[in-house]
Amino acid sequence: MVYEMKFFADTASVKKIAELKTINLVNGVTTNPSLILKEGKDFHKIAREICSLVSGPVSLEVSSTSIKEMRVEANKLIEISDNVVVKLPLTWDGLKLCRELSDKGIKVNMTLCFTLNQALLAAKAGSHFVSPFVGRLDDSNIDGIELIKKIRITYDNYQFNTKILAASIRSQEHIERCALVGADAITAPPEILHVMADHPLTEKGLAKFLEDWAKSNQKI
Ligand code: G3P
Repeated sequence: MVYEMKFFADTASVKKIAELKTINLVNGVTTNPSLILKEGKDFHKIAREICSLVSGPVSLEVSSTSIKEMRVEANKLIEISDNVVVKLPLTWDGLKLCRELSDKGIKVNMTLCFTLNQALLAAKAGSHFVSPFVGRLDDSNIDGIELIKKIRITYDNYQFNTKILAASIRSQEHIERCALVGADAITAPPEILHVMADHPLTEKGLAKFLEDWAKSNQKI
């Protein structure tokens, strides 16, 4: 199988998504209620703008917990655009709805995943994506990347098709380690994607090249 590691933007900022898009760093977008709050704008307006800007999957999260209410919200979310992925919490009701939506061909992203068991349940329920929260596990002194590794091995053992979308990415190191253990995709805040390009030796080397070029009195 041909594999490309996908990069998703974990943000609800249309401006930041547009900038990342210029270098193919937006294979998709993930949002959540906290990211919507941070933008301080109308949810439907933001969702429509992001979905028209990005052709890949855009995860929009439900904001209730009972299957009945989540179903109503999910049906509204998929009306927004064809590329909407319904983001559901990894709870028992979330899993039930995941199975229901997946059976209808609607893509689901099961979020707030913290264990291999939860990832197994998401796969059994037919979820398109599972989102293990790397940084929040690290916050609890549990190695988040180890979870990504365990899910990768297990999904491969049983040929589950659910994609591992590593979330709660807080550093360049997280991204490197996700790539090494075979996450299908990472979703990171734009600021983290930006610093991936930084290295002090790159800056130092560039300064020296510019200095020498100036001394050469030449032009390109
Ligand atoms: O993708 C989930 C993400 O938005 C949560 O990140 O840093 O709040 O744990 P964080």
